[in-house]
Amino acid sequence: MPEIRAVITAVGHYLPENRLTNSDLEQMVDTNDEWIRTRTGIKERRILKDEDKATAFMGAEAAREVLEQRGIGAEEIDAIVLATVTPDYIFPATACLVQEYIGATNAYGFDLSAACSGFLYALTTGAHFIEAGQAEKVLVIGSDKMSSIVDYTDRSTCILFGDGAGAVLLEASDDQTGLVDYIHHTEGDTNGALCQPGGGSMNPASQETVAQRLHYIKQDGRVVFKKATVGMADVVTEIMEENDLTADDVEWLVPHQANLRIIDATAQRVGLEREKVMVNIDKYGNTTAATIPLCLYDWKDKLNHGDNLILAAFGGGYTWGAVYMKWGMNQ
Ligand code: ACO
Repeated sequence: MPEIRAVITAVGHYLPENRLTNSDLEQMVDTNDEWIRTRTGIKERRILKDEDKATAFMGAEAAREVLEQRGIGAEEIDAIVLATVTPDYIFPATACLVQEYIGATNAYGFDLSAACSGFLYALTTGAHFIEAGQAEKVLVIGSDKMSSIVDYTDRSTCILFGDGAGAVLLEASDDQTGLVDYIHHTEGDTNGALCQPGGGSMNPASQETVAQRLHYIKQDGRVVFKKATVGMADVVTEIMEENDLTADDVEWLVPHQANLRIIDATAQRVGLEREKVMVNIDKYGNTTAATIPLCLYDWKDKLNHGDNLILAAFGGGYTWGAVYMKWGMNQ
């Protein structure tokens, strides 16, 4: 147990105004509102339409809200850890662009790629800088412009994803609230069940990769669904057992928003009633690294100081994990 505990002291967000509803998708592919709602829980998602804006812009907007909420200047930030699978460019890192956008002149920054678990991995990475006494203020951002890698002719994936960003500020806790424990897992043997095959060093962009639509998300939904349902439920059980927590001790489950059925199965497995589970997938779909901070943002006024929160995610990689934290805001 570290002597210094890292705690979230502000939460910000950004959501594009443009909405893509299920009925909009009915006009684009062979699908229907009823199928999407019952199979995923999604009603609409937000899409960033501006051609000159991308993941860094959304992350910077979320970060600006964090700074304003905390009443500090950008120059006070020591580090920026940004989780994304849709960086503005392969390099420079999106965190560098955010640093420039917000004027965090004293911060260094880097990106972290762990798909839907990205925010949790970034959160624990940022927390380590605080716990080590190496940083006082760390911005942790989850931002994804999923519409840039979604194939809007593929009905099995295009209904799932949306754009958005969430950000938190981590500082040292003075009252033992904050991050208590975490568990992260990785399993690289996915047999291509969830990936974006084109555009990297294996299949560099070429006319051929574009013609084969390799720059879009490819997912074997059924395979990933099974892995995600078991993985999320297992890791939440694991972290609760490790910390001697029963369902009564947990005020909130903050699950990654990939599919309402995965969320419900996880909550059911650990005996948490629906009222304790944050769900906003209906409004935003799967925003990958942004879903968990967007939940924290939407619920921040309902959370009480000292509440026990379990954050959990499963995603491409495969990557999955859980974080146990005591909420430190709203004192
Ligand atoms: N509209 C209508 N029918 C559809 C659609 C659609 N949009 N998409 C698929 N179908 C059809 C299929 O063709 C299939 O028809 P068939 O039985 O005639 O073959 C039928 O519906 C069932 O398809 P499944 O793929 O079995 O549907 P499933 O219930 O598994 O739902 C879904 C698909 C929503 C994708 C689900 O599998 C899922 O949520 N998977 C996990 C997603 C996840 O957690 N991803 C990880 C995070 S993402 C990341 O890390 C970037």
